[in-house]
Amino acid sequence: MIKTKILKVTAELSRPEDIENLKIAAKVVRDGGLVAFPTETVYGLGANALDAEAVKKIFAVKGRPDDNPLISHLASVEDIYKYAYAEENKYFQRISTLFPAPLTVILRKCSLIPDAVTAGLPNAGFRIPENLVARKLIELAGVPIAAPSANISGRPSTTRAEHVIEDLFGKVDVIIDGGPCKVGVESTIVTLATDPPVLLRPGAVTLEELSDRLGEVKISRSILEEMNEDEVASAPGMKYKHYAPVNPVTIIIGDDERVRAYINKRCETENLAILCYDEDVPYIDCRNVFAVGTENDPFEQARLIFDALRATDECSFITGVLARCPASKDGVNLAIYNRLLKASGFNVVKL
Ligand code: TXA
Ligand code: MG
Repeated sequence: MIKTKILKVTAELSRPEDIENLKIAAKVVRDGGLVAFPTETVYGLGANALDAEAVKKIFAVKGRPDDNPLISHLASVEDIYKYAYAEENKYFQRISTLFPAPLTVILRKCSLIPDAVTAGLPNAGFRIPENLVARKLIELAGVPIAAPSANISGRPSTTRAEHVIEDLFGKVDVIIDGGPCKVGVESTIVTLATDPPVLLRPGAVTLEELSDRLGEVKISRSILEEMNEDEVASAPGMKYKHYAPVNPVTIIIGDDERVRAYINKRCETENLAILCYDEDVPYIDCRNVFAVGTENDPFEQARLIFDALRATDECSFITGVLARCPASKDGVNLAIYNRLLKASGFNVVKL
């Protein structure tokens, strides 16, 4: 057990003690410690990306497979030029003005980024978070911060400090409580190291927005299809079991009436938890119902989806989770679709 310090900061950094707290956390990062911090997507578990020993601790604490590389978080676009071969990448020139954003770009790395960060790959992921607390922490640390999502590997990502405390208290030096995350699903990942670029993970920056700037962008097979553990995935993390609550998840795709009838029928004989839209709630006859936002607002659904998956762990005596999933794969829907597919281990009922 490590003695974990919990430091509260406001999202706007409006109090003098907010900066003082971030200075404490920044020093822990510089000294090789682990700091969990908020970003606009999900909480991150950060270490000094230039310190291979510190980076190795992240893998140990999360129980993360060692072939799964980490994203380096930077304070400004200029820093990307310092740590990657970004100048000669024509695609990077076209999207660099999107930053700061819930977006990660994969580029060929410079040798300053140790192999421990990229699991030996020649390319590395970089992202400049929009979240003020995250950016200030990186700036004060004065080093890039390598950070995966701040959850135990395989569990739903954390979007609130309470969830980080649940997974990581006693295992990390500092947890910064900066309130709930605005986006709620992890960053969009696009590799610019291939021609054409490939979307490796969908997020709040949509495929449509990327294609507007980059032209053709391919979609990695791992976003919508199951991969074998021994397959070489373009984003190694995509092949592992992900986002799973304790109970098995089944996702349901179909129109309102069919989905509601299916759920009610199953609930007659089984004790289940249900994830559905606000509009479904009055029609569902089940004790454990979690609303994940309005049917037509995928941004709201993104913000609530991991919280809801985690909340099902608190339901007593349930044997499974039924989660309503968008039928559309447009825009941010693709991110929700992808996360629910992974959470369910590709267990889909189409009505
Ligand atoms: O929103 C986010 O991206 C959050 C916050 C903390 O910034 N971070 C996050 O990290 O989601 P993580 O480690 O949970 O997911 C990173 C994903 C993994 O699937 C990993 O395989 C992929 O990014 N990745 C990282 N570096 C890569 C590289 N060099 N090439 C291909 N994929 C990479
Ligand atoms: Mg993760």
